[in-house]
Amino acid sequence: MAKYIVEQSGPLHGEVEISGAKNAALPILAATVLTADVCEICDVPRLKDIDVMCRILRSLGAKVDEDWDEHIIRVDGSGISVSEVPYDLVKLMRASIFVMGPLLARLGKASIAQPGGCAIGDRPIDLHTKGLKTLGARVMMSEGLVNASVDRLKGALVYLDFPSVGATENIMMAASVADGVTTIENAAEEPEIVDLASFLNKMGAKIKGAGTDTIKIEGVPSLHGARHAVIPDRIETGTFMVAAAITRGNVLIKNCLPDHVRPVMAKLIECGAVVEDELEGLRVRGDAGKLVATDIKTLPYPGFPTDMQAPFMALLTTVSGTSTVIETVFENRFMHAAELSRMGANIRVDGRNAVVPGDKRPLTGAHVMSTDLRAGAALVLAGLVAKGTTEVSQIYHIERGYENFVEKLSGLGAKIKRVED
Ligand code: EPZ
Repeated sequence: MAKYIVEQSGPLHGEVEISGAKNAALPILAATVLTADVCEICDVPRLKDIDVMCRILRSLGAKVDEDWDEHIIRVDGSGISVSEVPYDLVKLMRASIFVMGPLLARLGKASIAQPGGCAIGDRPIDLHTKGLKTLGARVMMSEGLVNASVDRLKGALVYLDFPSVGATENIMMAASVADGVTTIENAAEEPEIVDLASFLNKMGAKIKGAGTDTIKIEGVPSLHGARHAVIPDRIETGTFMVAAAITRGNVLIKNCLPDHVRPVMAKLIECGAVVEDELEGLRVRGDAGKLVATDIKTLPYPGFPTDMQAPFMALLTTVSGTSTVIETVFENRFMHAAELSRMGANIRVDGRNAVVPGDKRPLTGAHVMSTDLRAGAALVLAGLVAKGTTEVSQIYHIERGYENFVEKLSGLGAKIKRVED
């Protein structure tokens, strides 16, 4: 197994280019199942999760060409005839569930291994299945499989008990070719939802309201191929913003959309960092004065993103004063706290609340383990400012969601290398 060796590094300086958003590219690739035409998706990040989604599309009968010189994936969906997604693919990536709505719409059936939970929570799919049932699908769970079938999807009013990102995406994709109008109420408002709706509308869908809590989809008979460039990754953006702050550096983050990271900007400014929207990108400075504590509460967009909770907690261990962190989205997303405490932080967790004493700078390097994608990133950031050496294991989690993470950090002056165990 590979691991990262991270040495205490000085302040990060220079420029970093943000990649396309994993959490936009995945549902958009799933949406290509909705048409027999060719789709061209640009600015796709080269990540393990993307590789798994391409394998899933091929297993359904699609022809998938990956051009990593150009970061373009071309999908020819004309050969799609398989409606099953086996467990050996689903177990690699929960987001496999995103093909359920498109398969129901394209083939009238879908049989997908029930995605298991993961370190951060049970990750149920009840809102996905409830929404598809409301559109007329029959959905049965048996022997770890989710079997769905429908003669014709019919538009309906779907109310989401929680603004689930994945459920909003699955329902929106299925509704795009249903008979009649679908309204999704209490929908997720994330930028990735807007990007998916933009792609679907380029395919001929009629979707309004994406990015608000009410999305209206007027079903159309069929969708055609389209070309789409994925938005930049707002969580990678936030991760590098925090990297600049935690190392007290000065970094220009290029190819990012400042509007997608307003909560992270606001919290960094509350801590005393400087964040400036320059022509070429966002400049983040952690060297402009003493950094101080703040309080974080994760919420669905436009609130503070749960995916930024772990990286931000690493920063909070190094500022002056005690911070509190409340995680409202996932039920078990503080595992990085124990690993940070092994580096000298003294974080106290009680259910969904964490108290993060500051003034632990420098932390002490240690052998730590990634438990999920963003926890792993947080441990790397902590390693940059810890005395000595930090070894981060289970880095496959990190490499699912951060393209060229070592190269990008090294380009800013970080002392990090990837070694095979
Ligand atoms: C998406 O996951 C992202 N993944 C996650 O990013 C992100 O953390 C999450 O949205 C929240 O922003 C992708 O887009 C591939 P949810 P998703 O459905 O769709 C509960 C990362 O680090 N829920 O909004 O699975 C669920 O248990 C990953 O890139 C139900 O109860 O998130 C959770 O508590 C991690 N029933 C809450 O909603 C359901 O049917 C949020 O889940 C679905 C969800």
